[in-house]
Amino acid sequence: MNMQNVVETLEASVSIRGLDLNFGVVNVLQGLDLDVAQGEFLVLLGSSGCGKSTVLNCIAGLVDLSAGQIFINGQNVTWAEPSDRGIDMVFQSYALYPQMTVEGNMSFGLRNAGMARAEIATRVAKAAKILQLEPLLKRKPAALSGGQRQRVAIGRALVRDVDVFLFDEPLSNLDAKLRADLRVEIKRLYQQLGNTMIYVTHDQVEAMTLADRIAVMKGGKIMQLGTPDEIYNRPQNLYVADFIGAPAMNFIGPRLHGDRVTFGEHDICIPHLGGGVE
Ligand SMILES: Nc1ncnc2c1ncn2[C@@H]1O[C@H](COP(=O)(O)OP(=O)(O)O)[C@@H](O)[C@H]1O
Ligand SMILES: [Mg+2]
Repeated sequence: MNMQNVVETLEASVSIRGLDLNFGVVNVLQGLDLDVAQGEFLVLLGSSGCGKSTVLNCIAGLVDLSAGQIFINGQNVTWAEPSDRGIDMVFQSYALYPQMTVEGNMSFGLRNAGMARAEIATRVAKAAKILQLEPLLKRKPAALSGGQRQRVAIGRALVRDVDVFLFDEPLSNLDAKLRADLRVEIKRLYQQLGNTMIYVTHDQVEAMTLADRIAVMKGGKIMQLGTPDEIYNRPQNLYVADFIGAPAMNFIGPRLHGDRVTFGEHDICIPHLGGGVE
């Protein structure tokens, strides 16, 4: 890593530089650059298949990059093992161990890593308190609702005490009411923890309500990166303008002739278009 890279990435929690990812001949990500600040809640938003999960998988180290580099806390982790990256990921389909209790599920990774029992107990208790799972610690997954199970899945990540949390559509399998409730909880969790969070969703309401900044993706590229207000009120291109907002924004197809613009029944003069008038 050269010094330029160190300096550039010092303030960022996660930096992606020139990321390309190909699956065989299919080019899924193309020259993607992204900086996520320390303690920022960044949402990757886009329709299905645009490459959101692939970006997360690259950050997590679950796939090999075709080109580019990834930095976490200023360290080049491009070729680091997932477990050495200081990240944890919560998936859409949360596979809990059915034979284990909530407590067992949450502590499993720590027990596997050989952590001392007292430390495990402290961490599980803290995560259970934050996620309001304390009354459920002795239950098994079959006796939990979908929302409770997803909270356990988040708890599993929480106990690991990582710098960066990656969420891949964690609420997509839940019904609308639960989704709204858990959205509020995730926001609260973020405010309490202050960790960097990178959150993937195709749901623009989720993105608008959770994000400090949103990266709108299409076809493996970022179409716009900005605050929810910027994305909503000042879209930089037609794709973002069309994608964000319900009902969708209307477009008019104006015709230019000289210094006049015609659209529908309207015909207006815009002097500087013609180039003749200052
Ligand atoms: N293992 C894979 N092999 C081949 N193509 C893949 C693989 N994983 C994902 N893709 C393709 O890459 C594109 C982006 O996928 P993904 O990142 O999962 O999109 P998103 O999460 O935005 O829905 C899709 O077109 C998908 O079909
Ligand atoms: Mg996905």
